[in-house]
Amino acid sequence: LKAFLKNEQFAHLEKRVLGGGSNILITQDFHGATIHPLNKEIKIKAQNKDNVIIKVGAGLNWDSLVEYCVKNEWYGLENLSGIPGNVGASPIQNIGAYGVEVKDFIKQVEYIDINTHKIEKLCAPECKFAYRDSIFKHELKNRVVITSVTFSLQKNGTLNTEYKGIKEELQKWGKPNLKNLRKAILSIRKSKIPKPEEIPNAGSFFKNPIIDNSVFNQIKKKNKDVPFYPLTQNTKKIPAAWLIEKAGFKGYQNGKTAVHDKQALILINKNNAEGKDLINLSEKIIKEVKKKFGVSLEREVNLFP
Ligand code: EPU
Repeated sequence: LKAFLKNEQFAHLEKRVLGGGSNILITQDFHGATIHPLNKEIKIKAQNKDNVIIKVGAGLNWDSLVEYCVKNEWYGLENLSGIPGNVGASPIQNIGAYGVEVKDFIKQVEYIDINTHKIEKLCAPECKFAYRDSIFKHELKNRVVITSVTFSLQKNGTLNTEYKGIKEELQKWGKPNLKNLRKAILSIRKSKIPKPEEIPNAGSFFKNPIIDNSVFNQIKKKNKDVPFYPLTQNTKKIPAAWLIEKAGFKGYQNGKTAVHDKQALILINKNNAEGKDLINLSEKIIKEVKKKFGVSLEREVNLFP
């Protein structure tokens, strides 16, 4: 990779990184160089009776890593079962699901700087992780190729089953252990989130908005049932899916694109739609949600290039 980046023949080309391709929306042709990491190695860097530290190649499929950890009975990543994409992308948007964010298990991210060709390492606080956010979406955007991620996992952990609906689903699978929790998570996902290989989609199209209490109270006046996650004293996070559904878009079809009928946060490509068709649908939704609730939805998918 270093040799490629240093090669003068390619110096003039713009460079972008493509991981699993599952969280991007391609909006136009790209005439530069696309770098696709393929290193899939899992190396144990250290372990004792309580913890294990593993360094994982950016090119490994995310769910293969989760499956491997669950098999070894290492706790941490199990609630993130079934998320599409590759390990190298996981820190970029700080993937999260069912009450867990990957930031809590990341020790270090290693990358090559596209401009200086140097290998750099960032520890977790330096990555500036936040809800679906990190330094890789800001200062380091399009400037790095993440080559590996180092995780710290527990050998005698506890299961995190606090997210709504998990306890009930887990009971159906038998004893509450890592393997069954993984099965429960996969089953919940299957009921709501279509597999991108089957129905093309990029997961949540929008972030769940974080709103001030004053805006929340306005919404609550007319909608007693508005769901929310308390965040700080003055703010709450509310499900974008709820806003989109209430704005009348669940199952809505717009030409070659549509809003998924089981999860309103997921926009789908029904029939050879192009990036711009999905942008159009998303803009329609953003406008209507703003008009109805006074809340601005922000895209969660990344535009490529
Ligand atoms: N809801 C609706 N209508 C819908 C779907 C959901 O009103 O069509 C409401 C319900 O009240 C439900 C609540 O939204 O209880 C939450 O729904 P869900 O548990 O499906 O989660 P989400 O907030 O819509 C987030 C993540 C997902 C992640 C799930 C589970 C974001 C942007 N999305 O969705 O992540 O899988 O929680 O933890 O934070 C992704 O990032 O691509 C992704 C799929």
